[in-house]
Amino acid sequence: MSDYKEKFEKMRVAGKLASKTLDMLTDYIKPGVSTDRIDKVAYEFIKDNGGYSAPLFYRGFEKSLCTSLNHVVCHGIPSERILEDGDAVNVDITAVVDNYYGDTSRMYEIGNVSVKAKNLIEATYDSLMRAVKILKPGKKLGDIGYEIQSYVESKGYAVVRDFCGHGISNVFHEPPNILHYGSKNTGKELTPGMTFTIEPMINYGKFDTKVLNDGWTAVTKDKSLSAQFEHTVGITEDSYEIFTESGKGYTRPPYN
Ligand code: MF3
Ligand code: CO
Ligand code: CO
Repeated sequence: MSDYKEKFEKMRVAGKLASKTLDMLTDYIKPGVSTDRIDKVAYEFIKDNGGYSAPLFYRGFEKSLCTSLNHVVCHGIPSERILEDGDAVNVDITAVVDNYYGDTSRMYEIGNVSVKAKNLIEATYDSLMRAVKILKPGKKLGDIGYEIQSYVESKGYAVVRDFCGHGISNVFHEPPNILHYGSKNTGKELTPGMTFTIEPMINYGKFDTKVLNDGWTAVTKDKSLSAQFEHTVGITEDSYEIFTESGKGYTRPPYN
């Protein structure tokens, strides 16, 4: 029982800094601001709070976080692109503190977004939380995928297959892969002490993706809208803990 207590304590600290960074960014993620500016502000905030941005120089990635707009599924690279009214953007933060990682992302609505985008964002958030709420020892990885897939497909959306959640602790990405689709009662069993992310990417159209020539930016092949939320979680003796919950109670937009 106590063998993962120290690990959880460190996951809590890293997760808290990642979610606090997203809370803080809420004031910056507005029309007229470049994604590079968001990157800079987050980099400084994480550094000032005793952490480091894990994406920076990770496998050649040159920014501190990912900003994925509209039909970008994930791994969007901050740039001079200015956020405009109607954009839906995912900001994905991974903070390292004392060698442990906290990985979390949220969607932000820039000005007024379409009802279509709002509905996709809401369903994506709800799919993540439905999966989180079933977590406990004895459940299986397939149960996580089933919760997400059955929910979003009932609304006519598609689950991205090309990217998944992952184990995370004192390593950024480690086994097991956490698929966001699957069948009940299949796959590896959850056990106390496991720590991983759940980060469903849900598309308005088809699930197919492709990576742009920059080697990172993943987009929907059919250019349809995509949304994502991510939490880092741990399995306890009889339940779960979310390491990346907002201290301000921010869940999904609107944040206020
Ligand atoms: N934070 C992303 C994840 O959820 C990984 C980003 S890696 C990067 O796993 F290099 F693209 F930043
Ligand atoms: Co992740
Ligand atoms: Co992430």
